[in-house]
Amino acid sequence: MNTIAVNKSFDVATVRKDFPILNVEVHGNPLVYFDNAATTQKPQQVIDTLNDYYRRYNSNVHRGVHYLSQVATDAYEEARLKVSKLLNASSSAEIIFTRGTTESINLIAFSFGEVFIHEGDEIIISTIEHHSNIVPWQLLCQRKKAVLKVIPVLDNGVLDLEAYRGLFSEHTKLVAVGHISNALGTVNPIAEMIATAHAHQVPVLIDGAQGLPHGKVDVQSLDCDFYCFSGHKMYGPTGIGGFYGRMSLLEQMPPYQSGGEMIQDVSFACTTFNEVPYKFEAGTPNIADAIGLATAIEYLEKVGWDAIAKYEQELLRYATEKLTLEGGITIIGTAPDKASLISFLIDGVHPLDAGTIIDHFGIAIRTGNHCAQPLMDRFGITGTIRASFAFYNTFEEIDRLMAAIRKVKQMFL
Ligand code: ALA
Repeated sequence: MNTIAVNKSFDVATVRKDFPILNVEVHGNPLVYFDNAATTQKPQQVIDTLNDYYRRYNSNVHRGVHYLSQVATDAYEEARLKVSKLLNASSSAEIIFTRGTTESINLIAFSFGEVFIHEGDEIIISTIEHHSNIVPWQLLCQRKKAVLKVIPVLDNGVLDLEAYRGLFSEHTKLVAVGHISNALGTVNPIAEMIATAHAHQVPVLIDGAQGLPHGKVDVQSLDCDFYCFSGHKMYGPTGIGGFYGRMSLLEQMPPYQSGGEMIQDVSFACTTFNEVPYKFEAGTPNIADAIGLATAIEYLEKVGWDAIAKYEQELLRYATEKLTLEGGITIIGTAPDKASLISFLIDGVHPLDAGTIIDHFGIAIRTGNHCAQPLMDRFGITGTIRASFAFYNTFEEIDRLMAAIRKVKQMFL
């Protein structure tokens, strides 16, 4: 019997009808998709947008005077505007499209690093970063003989802010931290962390891969310098994402890749570069998926950001209580402010074994180190079981996960 009171005010049944994949069966069971931090499912509206683009106006952008090229260019630039409004950038030119967060961080590490990082400089990251927000900085530090400094994490998965404040020196040139941890769900106090860095005149990059899917972001009120995101984690297509960059920095940064689009004039004697954002978008961009991303944003606005956040928090609370009441479960990451994601261990069972059995019941969860090996080392574990919830998930699906966990315990303990 369900003893936990749940608020069922959100019309999840209606929302679920928009996601055709939720009707598939896995191993003879209706799919329960709890791997939303890895990638989210796509509503029919996004699928239709991609189909419509290829059927009716596929064409290259910024290149032709012909009709289709104009239509595609308008739709592509509308998508940039849509993203800039979602992030409250002061201009759509501050939005650069890339393949996603990983490419965005690599672009900034290369390009910002070229100009602003020198021998002996210091870059601050944190223990709870995804590898994508560790390795590009390690490579930059190797290239430039700079030093990487790491904010420690407390036992509950919260960053040690006192230690953070102590990491700054006259050599600090950048802070790069995640908005929300993909492995623990911790929501970092990024506004406070940015203010601390700015007090030392140090710019801040936010890895927003897990942040933007859960709520609107205001880069102006945060006053952040870079905010990176992935479209596929926010109900848009794969292969599209990007970042917000402060114009005064973008103007000083050199191109990351070169070719068509990013140039103004080319001669064998001298080449000049296009203005921001095109300077950073060499080659034919991912037109269809950018337009698909704009549809995903429209869709999220229609469902309602506040309603999404409230419902996801209810799912998180329900699952946390169920796992706690179950016993024999260790939750890794108990920060007071968490996104709808739970990392846990079934005591005495390897996460991979648990994941294999849970999959057998048609439930998709992620197991392993979640591309956050230094964080796993910090907790003395090799990995966790991770259930990450989206607004199309239900309380009944969490009950099904709990039943599968009970089966795992019966089999292994
Ligand atoms: N970064 C993605 C995850 O956390 C792939 O699963």
